[in-house]
Amino acid sequence: MAKVIMVAMSLRKESFNKKLIVNAQSILAKEKPELITDLLLFNDYSMPVYDGDIETQHGIPDGVKNLGKKISDADAIILSTPEYNGGIPGPFKNAIDWVSRITPMPWPGKKLLLLGASPGGLGAIRSLGHSRVPLDSIGVFVYPEMFGLARADAAFDESGKLKDASTEERLKKILIKFANYIG
Ligand code: FNR
Repeated sequence: MAKVIMVAMSLRKESFNKKLIVNAQSILAKEKPELITDLLLFNDYSMPVYDGDIETQHGIPDGVKNLGKKISDADAIILSTPEYNGGIPGPFKNAIDWVSRITPMPWPGKKLLLLGASPGGLGAIRSLGHSRVPLDSIGVFVYPEMFGLARADAAFDESGKLKDASTEERLKKILIKFANYIG
């Protein structure tokens, strides 16, 4: 059975991306119960800003090693990312860079789906485009289609569930396609 790790690349407690990835996991549990999904909290993998001197003097930080192990053990990855200034958020890029320093590198060959949420009108799609670039370059198979959630500040009810049925349907469609791609 394929193992899928799911992570929102925001540290914020009330993160819209955290809410989106929880919705994605619920949909997959219902639609593709044969998949083993593991919802991770990015906050559990704390790491400094990458510095070659830290690496030389202290090695790879534990948070990075632990995240790298989760990636190595997974067949596929679903990430939900915010957009910062039209691109990939620093903490997300930092995690890609740190994990790429582990030998053997955990990233190559992993199948990965990108989701994103933003209170803005573009639904973090510029961030999704930027996030592909480093992932592509280290051998991750980033799924061609991506999912952006615009107006994320109004998208969830009090329990954190997506309010709009058509948005949920759009998310369901891409998740099912990605699950079929994982095989
Ligand atoms: C933002 N935000 C933002 N939103 C957007 O749609 N496009 C953007 O370019 C930016 N730029 C940006 C830069 C910085 C430094 C911050 C802190 C924020 C707003 C962002 O979408 C909002 O804070 C989300 O709530 C972040 O995602 P989470 O934490 O809710 O998952």
